[in-house]
This record gives sequence, C-alpha cells and structure tokens, in this order.
Amino acid sequence: MTETDLRDVIASFPDERARALYQHGLDRQWNVDRALDWSALRLDRVPITARRGMACLYSDTLHAEKFGLELGARIAELAPAGWLRDFTLLQLRDEVRHVDFFGRVVGKLGEGDAISDELVCIRSELLTVTTHEELMLHALILECGARATFVGNAKRSLDMVGKGVRLPANESISTLMRAIVDYVGRDEARHIAMGMCCLRTSLQGPRVSELRSIERRLRVTATLFLRSLLHRSDTFARLGLSPDTIGTSVWQAIRSQLQRLDLDIGDPDSAPPSAST
Ligand SMILES: [Fe+2]
Ligand SMILES: [Fe+2]
Repeated sequence: MTETDLRDVIASFPDERARALYQHGLDRQWNVDRALDWSALRLDRVPITARRGMACLYSDTLHAEKFGLELGARIAELAPAGWLRDFTLLQLRDEVRHVDFFGRVVGKLGEGDAISDELVCIRSELLTVTTHEELMLHALILECGARATFVGNAKRSLDMVGKGVRLPANESISTLMRAIVDYVGRDEARHIAMGMCCLRTSLQGPRVSELRSIERRLRVTATLFLRSLLHRSDTFARLGLSPDTIGTSVWQAIRSQLQRLDLDIGDPDSAPPSAST
C-alpha cells in the first residue's frame, strides 16, 4: 500500500480513535524470527513434568490462534468493505504471526496435544452465526479469554523469576514469557481495543430483543472457553498456577469487556465442568 492509499484508507475511518488504533497496528508489526533468539531457546531443558504441562497449554493456545485466524477470515468475508474490513485484515496479519510463533513454541516443547472438545464445539456453534457483528462479539470473548490466560500466566511467571524463584531452564522460560507479553500480548490488547471500537459503532441502534438472544449465545461461548481451561486444571496445578484464580480472572475479563457494550453474560455456571455438556 502506498502512502497515499494508506492516507485514503485512514481518512475513511469513523473517528480519531479508530485512525490511531489502525496506525498503531501498522507501526507495531513485528517479525517472528527476530522476536527472540529461537536457537538459544532450550525448552528441552525444562523438567519433563513442567514441559508436558507447557506443551498442553501452548498447543491449546496454538489451536485457539488457528481458530482465531479462521474466525477473522469469516468476519473479513462478511464485513462490509471499508474500515471494519480493513481492521479485520490488519488483525489477520497479526494472527498469522501468532500461529507461526506458537507453532514454533510447541515444536520446541516436543509434544503437542489434540484440539479440545470445547473448541471444536465453539467452532461448530459459530458456523450458525451469519453476521459479522455477532462473530466479532464471539471473537472478542476468545481474545479476552486467551489474553487473560496466557499473558496473565506469562506475567505471573516473570514475577516469580523477578522475585528470585529459581526455575530450571530459567533463562529460556523468561525469554519466552517476555516475548509473549511484549509481542503477542501487545497485539492481543490492540485486537480487543479494535474489536471494541468496531462493535461500539456497529452495535449502535440495537435491536434489544435480538441482543438478548445474542447474549445467551455469548454466554455459551464463554462457558465453553472456561470449561476448556478447567479441563487443564491438573496441568495448571502442576505448573504452580491456581486453576480457580485463572478461571475467575478469565470470566471477569470477558464479562467486564462485554458490559462495556451493555451486554451481560452473568456469573459462570456453578456446576462442575463436564466435557459432555
Ligand atoms: Fe492471536
Ligand atoms: Fe487476536
């Protein structure tokens, strides 16, 4: 895109906030090869139990990123030409990088895991959604949930290292966590901001009854996402993380973002999670 094309694109955006977010996204493009020194990343030195735990969590993240890419492509297809689609296309460029990034992480950890039943279920539920606005809302849930989970974990791990807790393969783990927070985490924060910006505009003049039924479907997506995490409770515990704390912070992150759009998914189900429901 030439400078003039870019100026034309940005001039068509609805307000200064949208223009700034788009420009910020362009300025903050990064390169996976250079995000960290992959050859020095020795995750094979992480003790086997912790390594298996990390492999489970990061292969979940990789599946989620691939699904995010798929969802973004559907939104781009359904969104009207113009700034909404431009935002989505810019976001897709980031998601391609995230798939590459987490693919390398899983490769370094040695063994990934199959896609979770819950993610498969979310994917088939969302095939019935045919508007870009509603798909963007579901995508926002996944973005908020994923960010609260893996960026939250990365920050917690860095805090532990910062407090002098000695982990085996300390150096490699800190390098990885820092790259997750600094690169992927920053992209995801921007995606949430971009999603909110798009939705604030496109959900204006809402059809209230329609929004209530959307709210029910959003709750299903959030519940499935939460269950996918809670099925990893043992893994979180093995890595020294509290599954309850993660579950609560993830639900809260999702719920409070949606509340900013006057949507409420309520409290999480109190029933124990089950893969079959
Ligand atoms: Fe992503
Ligand atoms: Fe994202």
